[in-house]
Amino acid sequence: MLRTTGVVKSYRSPAGARLGVLSGIDVQVDRGEVAAIVGASGSGKSTLLNVLGLLERPDAGDVWYDGERVTALGASAQSRARGRFVGFVFQSFLLLSGLTAVENVLLAARYRGGITRRTRDRARQLLAEVGMLERAAHYPTELSGGEQQRVAFCRAVLNDPPLVLADEPTGNLDDANASIILDRLVARARAGTAVVLVTHRHDVADLASVVFRLEGGRLERRDRLAR
Ligand SMILES: Nc1ncnc2c1ncn2[C@@H]1O[C@H](COP(=O)(O)OP(=O)(O)O)[C@@H](O)[C@H]1O
Ligand SMILES: [Mg+2]
Repeated sequence: MLRTTGVVKSYRSPAGARLGVLSGIDVQVDRGEVAAIVGASGSGKSTLLNVLGLLERPDAGDVWYDGERVTALGASAQSRARGRFVGFVFQSFLLLSGLTAVENVLLAARYRGGITRRTRDRARQLLAEVGMLERAAHYPTELSGGEQQRVAFCRAVLNDPPLVLADEPTGNLDDANASIILDRLVARARAGTAVVLVTHRHDVADLASVVFRLEGGRLERRDRLAR
């Protein structure tokens, strides 16, 4: 489903110095797999996820979805590819403050075929699965960080994308709610989704099919038993 070849990304500091973040990433994640990415804060995990989700262009190298070299596409074709393939759970949620929880979830449908009775039912079902149905009519400012995170998760999966990219999706959740989200992610993978999950939690890494550590701009495959 997802593949990268030689992805390189650096940023330029205000003083003009070049900060290398990713220096040659080759990774493949198939449907049915959960790939966990661990690494120190600042090691480039969010940058990598943004490149995988076509939110940022790499300086060099390519990203492929189902054999299509999507980094070669122009901006509007890229956003169509993103809409078709990717559900993104952002580290900072990115909920729209003027919309209720259920309306935020339905945003995903608005960009893809519109909101129908079926998508409304599906949005409510997803919110129920993560214990958020009673909060469906609440606005983001009325929700805790963990509650917003659960809404962001529902939005990411509403369209059943074949690829889910989740940036620390349990970072604000207590153990019980983290387990709910992780169970949902694993269930999606079993149903044929490719899942890439950035995480700090070792128990999360235990659920993964494969664990990578991002360090020095490179992804190193980890033996899951080695801590
Ligand atoms: N837009 C940006 N401009 C400049 N530097 C950035 C930008 N985004 C991230 N960085 C830097 O790139 C490095 C990796 O950041 P990030 O991918 O957010 O790490 P992580 O998610 O692993 O904590 C950090 O040193 C960060 O300061
Ligand atoms: Mg990050």
